[in-house]
Amino acid sequence: MTAPLIDPFARPISYLRVSVTDRCDFRCVYCMAENMTFLPKKELLTLEELDRMCSTFVRLGVEKLRITGGEPLVRKGIMTFFERMNRHLESGALKELTLTTNGSQLRRFARELADCGVRRINISMDTLDDKKFADITRWGRLAQVLDGIDAAQEAGLRVKINAVALKGFNEDELFTMQEWCAARDMDMTWIEVMPMGDLGNEDRLDQYWSLKDLRARLAERFTLVDLAERTGGPARYVRIEETGQKIGFITPLTHNFCESCNRVRLTCTGELYMCLGQEDMADLRAPLRASDDDALLEAAIREAITRKPKGHDFDYSRQKVDGQVSRHMSHTGG
Ligand code: GTP
Ligand code: 5AD
Ligand code: SF4
Repeated sequence: MTAPLIDPFARPISYLRVSVTDRCDFRCVYCMAENMTFLPKKELLTLEELDRMCSTFVRLGVEKLRITGGEPLVRKGIMTFFERMNRHLESGALKELTLTTNGSQLRRFARELADCGVRRINISMDTLDDKKFADITRWGRLAQVLDGIDAAQEAGLRVKINAVALKGFNEDELFTMQEWCAARDMDMTWIEVMPMGDLGNEDRLDQYWSLKDLRARLAERFTLVDLAERTGGPARYVRIEETGQKIGFITPLTHNFCESCNRVRLTCTGELYMCLGQEDMADLRAPLRASDDDALLEAAIREAITRKPKGHDFDYSRQKVDGQVSRHMSHTGG
């Protein structure tokens, strides 16, 4: 029997987030620079290598696999990878295979994803206004994402909308987005903007809208009931009594959820980040390529987990943004 992965703070590691590409067809301002230099293709793990990596983690007790990017659905051949992961769902070793996507490619892929055993997906959408959408993504078309959402629902996938809370940007859409999602029977999660990537001209501190404030505004109109249930991710949920809808809050800054962290992140080049908000990582590509036997890889994973830190140190409370991580979110997969 293989011993499960437990970190130094007694947290079992059961959730792996895997970034399968650093590329994306959008350039959300808080995620990427406008002129990103993407990695040369040869740096990426091949689909076979991704399979070996993920299968090793599953053998070590990972039960939830979330595929991210960049935009995971722009990776060539990615459906082959989902098909292969399906065998772990069928064996019962994996409880959930899912992805976080910008929605732009769902018209093409939603049905295939459902056929591979994906049951619910998270779609990032920060605004319902065409013009604002084109601004925040730098050139994305909202209509394409809305069509992708329809395609996902038609394929029977449960959809949750992720919105990054941005002061002066989507504050005025709190209720419209809420109601729009409720009308389509979709849950929603609000995320505090995290200080990652190069800030350039944008000051993340100016954009920062605390979810404490957002929640208080929601509570002025609706009755919010705290829910104990979790999805295995960092969000805490409330139910809106009036609509039955579930709203998640991801609050790395106002309410640190690190004490119950159960996840690590694999980048598309095979680096394992033990925390989204820390620079420490372990190279898993070298041990993977060094031998066809997974023993080396397994040992490298176990060693990496012994280095998982207690938490991140993002902090907006001082004069400047402390704890900023220079890595782009698109590299680590959010
Ligand atoms: P569910 O399975 O629906 O709970 O999804 P999830 O919240 O785990 O995944 P999703 O990809 O939708 O993540 C939403 C946001 O949460 C992203 O902005 C992530 O970067 C952020 N997030 C996820 N895990 C962590 C974490 O460990 N630390 C921090 N700071 N943010 C995280
Ligand atoms: N802060 C908070 N969330 C972010 N995302 C990307 N960059 C940031 C950031 N700096 C979100 C996306 C997507 C998820 C995977 O990460 O909107 O929903
Ligand atoms: Fe692409 Fe998502 Fe980053 Fe936006 S947040 S640029 S959609 S990876």
